[in-house]
Amino acid sequence: MSMTTISLIIIFSTVLMMRAGLATMATHFKCRGGLYPRSKVERFPVPDDKVIWGTPYKEYAPRNYTSPHITGKPWADPEIGEPDFQPQWNKLDYDVNRESYLGEYAIINRVPRNPIGRTGIIGRGVLGRWGPNHAADPVVTRWKTCETGGIELTKDNIPTLQFVAIKRGDTGEWALPGGMVDPGERVAAAAFREFQEEAINSLQMTDDQRETWQLEFEKFFSGGEIMYCGYVDDPRNTDNAWMETLAINFHDEDGSVVGGLKLHAGDDAVGVRWVDITPDLKLYASHKDIVYEVLRKRLSMYTEDDDDEDRKKRG
Ligand code: BGC
Repeated sequence: MSMTTISLIIIFSTVLMMRAGLATMATHFKCRGGLYPRSKVERFPVPDDKVIWGTPYKEYAPRNYTSPHITGKPWADPEIGEPDFQPQWNKLDYDVNRESYLGEYAIINRVPRNPIGRTGIIGRGVLGRWGPNHAADPVVTRWKTCETGGIELTKDNIPTLQFVAIKRGDTGEWALPGGMVDPGERVAAAAFREFQEEAINSLQMTDDQRETWQLEFEKFFSGGEIMYCGYVDDPRNTDNAWMETLAINFHDEDGSVVGGLKLHAGDDAVGVRWVDITPDLKLYASHKDIVYEVLRKRLSMYTEDDDDEDRKKRG
Protein backbone atom coordinates (compact mmCIF):
# COMPACT_ATOMS: atom_id res chain seq x y z
CA MET A 1 0.00 0.00 0.00
CA SER A 2 1.47 3.38 -1.00
CA MET A 3 1.87 6.30 1.40
CA THR A 4 -0.77 8.17 -0.57
CA THR A 5 -3.23 5.34 -0.03
CA ILE A 6 -2.60 5.35 3.71
CA SER A 7 -3.03 9.13 3.91
CA LEU A 8 -6.19 8.90 1.89
CA ILE A 9 -7.60 6.24 4.19
CA ILE A 10 -7.06 8.67 7.08
CA ILE A 11 -8.86 11.42 5.17
CA PHE A 12 -11.73 9.04 4.30
CA SER A 13 -12.14 8.11 7.94
CA THR A 14 -12.26 11.80 8.89
CA VAL A 15 -14.82 12.46 6.19
CA LEU A 16 -16.83 9.42 7.28
CA MET A 17 -16.70 10.54 10.90
CA MET A 18 -17.89 13.98 9.85
CA ARG A 19 -20.63 12.36 7.83
CA ALA A 20 -21.67 10.24 10.77
CA GLY A 21 -21.89 13.42 12.85
CA LEU A 22 -23.93 15.04 10.14
CA ALA A 23 -26.27 12.09 9.89
CA THR A 24 -28.27 13.73 12.67
CA MET A 25 -28.88 16.61 10.25
CA ALA A 26 -31.18 14.33 8.33
CA THR A 27 -33.50 14.40 11.34
CA HIS A 28 -33.83 18.18 10.92
CA PHE A 29 -31.22 20.58 12.02
CA LYS A 30 -31.52 23.57 9.72
CA CYS A 31 -35.30 23.38 9.46
CA ARG A 32 -36.13 23.33 13.16
CA GLY A 33 -36.29 26.06 15.79
CA GLY A 34 -36.14 29.83 15.45
CA LEU A 35 -37.86 32.00 12.88
CA TYR A 36 -39.01 30.64 9.55
CA PRO A 37 -36.91 32.23 6.72
CA ARG A 38 -38.04 35.62 5.38
CA SER A 39 -40.77 35.86 8.04
CA LYS A 40 -41.48 36.67 11.66
CA VAL A 41 -43.11 33.29 12.19
CA GLU A 42 -41.64 31.32 15.06
CA ARG A 43 -41.35 27.55 14.60
CA PHE A 44 -42.90 25.48 17.39
CA PRO A 45 -40.03 23.97 19.40
CA VAL A 46 -39.32 20.34 18.49
CA PRO A 47 -36.81 18.60 20.77
CA ASP A 48 -34.44 16.06 19.14
CA ASP A 49 -36.42 13.10 20.45
CA LYS A 50 -39.73 14.45 19.10
CA VAL A 51 -38.79 14.88 15.45
CA ILE A 52 -40.00 11.46 14.37
CA TRP A 53 -43.77 11.27 13.87
CA GLY A 54 -43.92 7.94 15.70
CA THR A 55 -43.00 9.67 18.96
CA PRO A 56 -46.13 11.16 20.56
CA TYR A 57 -45.98 14.95 21.15
CA LYS A 58 -49.37 15.97 22.59
CA GLU A 59 -48.41 19.62 23.04
CA TYR A 60 -47.34 20.01 19.40
CA ALA A 61 -49.21 23.06 18.02
CA PRO A 62 -47.23 24.42 15.03
CA ARG A 63 -48.38 27.61 13.29
CA ASN A 64 -49.77 27.43 9.79
CA TYR A 65 -47.72 29.61 7.47
CA THR A 66 -47.76 29.94 3.71
CA SER A 67 -46.05 33.06 2.43
CA PRO A 68 -48.45 35.44 0.62
CA HIS A 69 -45.70 35.86 -2.01
CA ILE A 70 -46.30 32.43 -3.49
CA THR A 71 -50.03 32.92 -4.08
CA GLY A 72 -50.88 32.70 -7.78
CA LYS A 73 -47.27 32.10 -8.87
CA PRO A 74 -47.05 29.79 -11.91
CA TRP A 75 -44.56 27.56 -10.06
CA ALA A 76 -46.75 27.23 -6.96
CA ASP A 77 -49.68 24.92 -6.15
CA PRO A 78 -53.07 26.34 -5.19
CA GLU A 79 -54.42 25.76 -1.70
CA ILE A 80 -55.64 22.28 -0.81
CA GLY A 81 -59.39 22.07 -1.37
CA GLU A 82 -59.53 24.61 -4.22
CA PRO A 83 -61.93 23.09 -6.77
CA ASP A 84 -59.46 22.95 -9.69
CA PHE A 85 -56.66 21.47 -7.63
CA GLN A 86 -56.75 17.66 -7.83
CA PRO A 87 -53.14 16.67 -7.08
CA GLN A 88 -51.92 13.13 -7.77
CA TRP A 89 -49.76 12.57 -4.69
CA ASN A 90 -46.77 10.22 -4.91
CA LYS A 91 -46.98 10.29 -8.70
CA LEU A 92 -45.81 12.15 -11.74
CA ASP A 93 -48.77 14.51 -11.84
CA TYR A 94 -48.77 15.55 -15.51
CA ASP A 95 -45.55 17.60 -15.61
CA VAL A 96 -45.19 18.06 -11.86
CA ASN A 97 -43.12 15.41 -10.13
CA ARG A 98 -44.86 14.66 -6.82
CA GLU A 99 -42.82 11.50 -6.23
CA SER A 100 -40.33 11.47 -3.37
CA TYR A 101 -36.87 9.88 -3.57
CA LEU A 102 -37.66 8.54 -0.09
CA GLY A 103 -40.58 6.40 -1.25
CA GLU A 104 -44.25 6.87 -0.52
CA TYR A 105 -45.09 9.73 1.84
CA ALA A 106 -48.24 9.83 3.94
CA ILE A 107 -51.24 12.04 3.21
CA ILE A 108 -52.88 13.13 6.45
CA ASN A 109 -56.15 15.10 6.23
CA ARG A 110 -55.53 15.60 2.49
CA VAL A 111 -52.08 17.11 3.09
CA PRO A 112 -48.65 15.47 2.47
CA ARG A 113 -46.61 14.80 5.60
CA ASN A 114 -42.87 15.42 5.76
CA PRO A 115 -41.32 11.91 5.71
CA ILE A 116 -38.44 12.86 8.02
CA GLY A 117 -40.57 14.34 10.79
CA ARG A 118 -41.69 17.51 12.55
CA THR A 119 -40.34 20.95 11.65
CA GLY A 120 -42.42 23.14 13.96
CA ILE A 121 -44.47 24.72 11.17
CA ILE A 122 -47.32 23.63 8.89
CA GLY A 123 -48.38 24.98 5.50
CA ARG A 124 -45.88 25.54 2.70
CA GLY A 125 -43.85 28.47 3.98
CA VAL A 126 -42.11 29.83 0.88
CA LEU A 127 -42.08 26.52 -1.00
CA GLY A 128 -44.32 26.29 -4.03
CA ARG A 129 -45.32 22.64 -3.95
CA TRP A 130 -47.10 20.61 -1.31
CA GLY A 131 -44.93 17.56 -0.62
CA PRO A 132 -41.57 17.25 -2.39
CA ASN A 133 -40.08 20.28 -4.15
CA HIS A 134 -37.42 19.03 -6.55
CA ALA A 135 -34.05 20.68 -7.08
CA ALA A 136 -30.95 19.77 -9.09
CA ASP A 137 -27.41 20.47 -7.90
CA PRO A 138 -24.39 20.44 -10.20
CA VAL A 139 -21.15 19.68 -8.34
CA VAL A 140 -18.48 20.90 -10.75
CA THR A 141 -15.03 19.83 -9.61
CA ARG A 142 -11.35 20.05 -10.52
CA TRP A 143 -8.07 19.25 -8.76
CA LYS A 144 -6.30 22.27 -7.28
CA THR A 145 -3.21 23.10 -9.29
CA CYS A 146 0.06 24.81 -8.40
CA GLU A 147 1.63 27.67 -10.31
CA THR A 148 3.46 25.34 -12.68
CA GLY A 149 0.09 23.87 -13.68
CA GLY A 150 0.50 20.41 -12.08
CA ILE A 151 -1.82 19.01 -9.39
CA GLU A 152 -0.91 20.52 -6.03
CA LEU A 153 -0.28 17.89 -3.33
CA THR A 154 -0.41 18.46 0.42
CA LYS A 155 2.52 17.41 2.58
CA ASP A 156 0.77 14.02 2.92
CA ASN A 157 0.82 13.69 -0.86
CA ILE A 158 -2.91 14.25 -1.25
CA PRO A 159 -4.57 16.37 -3.92
CA THR A 160 -7.19 18.96 -2.98
CA LEU A 161 -10.53 18.80 -4.75
CA GLN A 162 -12.18 22.12 -5.56
CA PHE A 163 -15.79 22.77 -6.50
CA VAL A 164 -17.72 25.71 -7.88
CA ALA A 165 -19.66 27.44 -5.12
CA ILE A 166 -21.98 30.41 -5.24
CA LYS A 167 -22.86 32.80 -2.46
CA ARG A 168 -26.63 32.70 -2.10
CA GLY A 169 -28.43 35.99 -2.31
CA ASP A 170 -31.07 34.94 0.27
CA THR A 171 -28.98 33.61 3.17
CA GLY A 172 -25.46 34.79 2.25
CA GLU A 173 -24.18 31.20 2.64
CA TRP A 174 -21.90 29.45 0.15
CA ALA A 175 -23.78 26.76 -1.74
CA LEU A 176 -23.86 24.55 -4.80
CA PRO A 177 -25.11 26.49 -7.84
CA GLY A 178 -28.33 24.51 -8.00
CA GLY A 179 -31.97 25.37 -8.44
CA MET A 180 -35.46 24.07 -8.90
CA VAL A 181 -36.32 21.57 -11.62
CA ASP A 182 -38.95 23.05 -13.93
CA PRO A 183 -42.09 20.96 -14.61
CA GLY A 184 -41.33 18.38 -17.29
CA GLU A 185 -37.60 19.20 -17.29
CA ARG A 186 -34.95 16.44 -17.04
CA VAL A 187 -32.98 16.76 -13.81
CA ALA A 188 -29.59 16.64 -15.61
CA ALA A 189 -30.75 19.41 -17.95
CA ALA A 190 -31.81 21.47 -14.93
CA ALA A 191 -28.38 20.98 -13.33
CA PHE A 192 -26.65 22.27 -16.48
CA ARG A 193 -29.09 25.17 -16.87
CA GLU A 194 -28.69 26.19 -13.24
CA PHE A 195 -24.91 26.07 -13.50
CA GLN A 196 -25.02 28.39 -16.47
CA GLU A 197 -27.52 30.75 -14.85
CA GLU A 198 -25.93 30.85 -11.42
CA ALA A 199 -22.25 30.51 -12.10
CA ILE A 200 -21.42 31.37 -15.68
CA ASN A 201 -23.71 34.25 -16.44
CA SER A 202 -23.18 33.84 -20.16
CA LEU A 203 -24.12 37.51 -20.66
CA GLN A 204 -20.61 38.44 -19.59
CA MET A 205 -19.01 36.59 -22.52
CA THR A 206 -18.67 37.77 -26.07
CA ASP A 207 -20.82 35.93 -28.60
CA ASP A 208 -17.77 34.12 -30.01
CA GLN A 209 -16.57 33.03 -26.58
CA ARG A 210 -20.05 31.88 -25.68
CA GLU A 211 -20.38 29.82 -28.83
CA THR A 212 -17.04 28.06 -28.28
CA TRP A 213 -17.76 27.41 -24.61
CA GLN A 214 -21.28 26.22 -25.32
CA LEU A 215 -20.12 23.26 -27.44
CA GLU A 216 -17.40 22.28 -24.97
CA PHE A 217 -19.81 22.65 -22.09
CA GLU A 218 -22.52 20.55 -23.63
CA LYS A 219 -20.04 17.71 -24.09
CA PHE A 220 -18.68 18.11 -20.58
CA PHE A 221 -22.11 18.35 -18.95
CA SER A 222 -23.37 15.25 -20.71
CA GLY A 223 -20.95 13.12 -18.68
CA GLY A 224 -22.06 13.66 -15.09
CA GLU A 225 -22.30 11.10 -12.30
CA ILE A 226 -25.15 11.03 -9.79
CA MET A 227 -23.71 11.46 -6.30
CA TYR A 228 -26.80 11.94 -4.18
CA CYS A 229 -30.54 11.94 -4.51
CA GLY A 230 -32.84 12.46 -1.58
CA TYR A 231 -34.06 14.74 1.14
CA VAL A 232 -32.37 18.05 1.92
CA ASP A 233 -32.27 19.58 5.37
CA ASP A 234 -33.32 22.94 3.95
CA PRO A 235 -34.31 25.88 6.21
CA ARG A 236 -37.51 26.33 4.14
CA ASN A 237 -38.91 22.86 4.90
CA THR A 238 -42.21 22.52 6.73
CA ASP A 239 -44.32 19.62 7.94
CA ASN A 240 -46.10 19.62 4.56
CA ALA A 241 -43.53 20.81 2.01
CA TRP A 242 -39.86 19.92 1.75
CA MET A 243 -36.83 20.06 -0.55
CA GLU A 244 -35.30 17.07 -2.31
CA THR A 245 -32.40 17.15 -4.70
CA LEU A 246 -30.42 15.14 -7.18
CA ALA A 247 -26.76 16.12 -7.20
CA ILE A 248 -24.61 15.35 -10.22
CA ASN A 249 -20.83 15.56 -10.26
CA PHE A 250 -19.17 16.95 -13.38
CA HIS A 251 -15.45 16.43 -12.89
CA ASP A 252 -12.77 18.08 -14.99
CA GLU A 253 -9.86 15.71 -14.34
CA ASP A 254 -7.22 17.68 -16.26
CA GLY A 255 -8.82 21.09 -15.78
CA SER A 256 -9.12 21.68 -19.50
CA VAL A 257 -12.84 22.48 -19.83
CA VAL A 258 -14.27 24.28 -16.82
CA GLY A 259 -11.00 24.13 -14.85
CA GLY A 260 -9.75 27.44 -16.23
CA LEU A 261 -13.08 29.18 -16.01
CA LYS A 262 -13.15 32.82 -14.96
CA LEU A 263 -16.26 32.80 -12.86
CA HIS A 264 -18.83 35.56 -12.60
CA ALA A 265 -21.88 35.76 -10.39
CA GLY A 266 -25.22 35.57 -12.13
CA ASP A 267 -28.94 35.27 -11.50
CA ASP A 268 -29.71 35.45 -7.75
CA ALA A 269 -26.16 34.50 -6.71
CA VAL A 270 -24.01 37.30 -5.33
CA GLY A 271 -20.61 35.64 -5.63
CA VAL A 272 -19.04 32.63 -7.28
CA ARG A 273 -15.67 30.92 -6.90
CA TRP A 274 -13.69 27.70 -6.74
CA VAL A 275 -13.68 26.44 -3.13
CA ASP A 276 -11.31 23.84 -1.61
CA ILE A 277 -13.14 20.87 -0.08
CA THR A 278 -11.70 20.82 3.42
CA PRO A 279 -13.03 19.43 6.71
CA ASP A 280 -14.06 22.85 8.04
CA LEU A 281 -16.38 23.70 5.14
CA LYS A 282 -19.66 25.48 6.00
CA LEU A 283 -22.35 25.34 3.33
CA TYR A 284 -26.07 25.91 2.77
CA ALA A 285 -28.58 23.17 3.72
CA SER A 286 -27.10 19.64 3.29
CA HIS A 287 -24.63 20.71 0.60
CA LYS A 288 -21.67 19.83 2.81
CA ASP A 289 -22.81 16.18 2.89
CA ILE A 290 -23.04 16.18 -0.88
CA VAL A 291 -19.59 17.64 -1.56
CA TYR A 292 -17.99 15.29 0.99
CA GLU A 293 -19.56 12.38 -0.85
CA VAL A 294 -18.04 13.67 -4.10
CA LEU A 295 -14.66 14.07 -2.37
CA ARG A 296 -14.82 10.51 -1.01
CA LYS A 297 -15.59 9.12 -4.44
CA ARG A 298 -13.04 11.22 -6.35
CA LEU A 299 -10.27 10.45 -3.85
CA SER A 300 -11.00 6.74 -4.06
CA MET A 301 -10.71 6.88 -7.86
CA TYR A 302 -7.52 8.91 -7.51
CA THR A 303 -6.11 6.26 -5.11
CA GLU A 304 -6.94 3.46 -7.51
CA ASP A 305 -5.06 5.29 -10.27
CA ASP A 306 -2.20 5.95 -7.89
CA ASP A 307 -2.03 2.26 -6.89
CA ASP A 308 -2.05 1.28 -10.57
CA GLU A 309 0.95 3.57 -11.08
CA ASP A 310 2.71 1.89 -8.12
CA ARG A 311 1.93 -1.54 -9.54
CA LYS A 312 3.25 -0.50 -12.94
CA LYS A 313 6.48 0.78 -11.37
CA ARG A 314 6.90 -2.49 -9.44
CA GLY A 315 6.27 -4.34 -12.70
C1 BGC B 1 -31.15 25.20 -4.24
C2 BGC B 1 -30.40 23.88 -4.31
C3 BGC B 1 -30.65 23.12 -3.03
C4 BGC B 1 -32.13 22.97 -2.81
C5 BGC B 1 -32.40 22.31 -1.49
C6 BGC B 1 -32.61 24.95 -4.01
O1 BGC B 1 -33.24 26.19 -3.89
O2 BGC B 1 -30.95 25.94 -5.42
O3 BGC B 1 -29.03 24.14 -4.43
O4 BGC B 1 -30.04 21.85 -3.01
O5 BGC B 1 -32.76 24.24 -2.81
O6 BGC B 1 -31.84 22.99 -0.43
